[in-house]
Amino acid sequence: MKAKILDGKNTSALIRNEIKKIIDKEYKPRNFQPGLVAILVGNNPASKIYVSSKVKACGEVGIYSKVIELEEATSQNDLIDIIKQLNINPKFHGILVQQPLPKHINTEVVNETIEPSKDVDGFHPVNMGKLLLGEPCLKPCTPLGIIELLKHYQIDLSGKNVVVIGRSNIVGKPLAAMLVQKNKFTNATVTICHSATKDISFFTKNADVVIAAIGKPEFLKAEMIKDDAVVIDVGINRVEDLNSKKGYRIVGDVKFDEVCEKASYITPVPGGIGPMTIAMLLKNTLIASSKIYGLELNV
Ligand code: GUN
Repeated sequence: MKAKILDGKNTSALIRNEIKKIIDKEYKPRNFQPGLVAILVGNNPASKIYVSSKVKACGEVGIYSKVIELEEATSQNDLIDIIKQLNINPKFHGILVQQPLPKHINTEVVNETIEPSKDVDGFHPVNMGKLLLGEPCLKPCTPLGIIELLKHYQIDLSGKNVVVIGRSNIVGKPLAAMLVQKNKFTNATVTICHSATKDISFFTKNADVVIAAIGKPEFLKAEMIKDDAVVIDVGINRVEDLNSKKGYRIVGDVKFDEVCEKASYITPVPGGIGPMTIAMLLKNTLIASSKIYGLELNV
């Protein structure tokens, strides 16, 4: 294999360790504890796994956490009432509503209900607006995790052609807004490709960095990238695999086996962006709690 692995598992462990140290040193002696509440509506099996990984990671660094599991049929109004209660609950500095939500619930309305200072997903329009303007705010965890991982490997994005495949509100759009900011580690030339893009290869073949976030198993092939491109795989897709015990296996949005022979760096799935996303959620919870407690942290 030619490409070097961008190891999200190890990098996220370093970040989680830093967070734990801060909690031990700055929070515990003051009897403070950051708190995160995750709301899970319905029975999406993947969402259940993600939420339990998030909660487990909280416990490991010393963040208090709770999962509120709600039935699929929960009404939008009931969900909103629960969020309003959590907005004023001092135990929780971070509130997360796992997506996707059932079809009868309007995601935008839910995002707008979360108090912006507790919006550790960075999905509230106030945080999204500040993000676009380059103002300090809570930022979405997956885009943050991608940028942190590239930073960790000292991959400079300034002036680079970066192609983001996917325009979701969770990843593609905020990521593009962050990559284009005139900051030390970003400052990139950014293109977003999506379902209406006529010839995605035309853009990806010219990219120094390709970030695949469309949720299509093994979409990005070796022939679509240039030699030595940096490839970031955000996808977590279940594909049928009768040889596996579970009956499925997890693949990304990148055809890893062939792309790793052409790229200079690549993220694996699992062990790439997934753990980085969780580490950024912990970091956002720490930041949100530090503001509420009036602690000045250097994170
Ligand atoms: N679903 C997929 N990714 C995310 C995320 O980062 N946050 C939430 N709340 N839901 C998601």
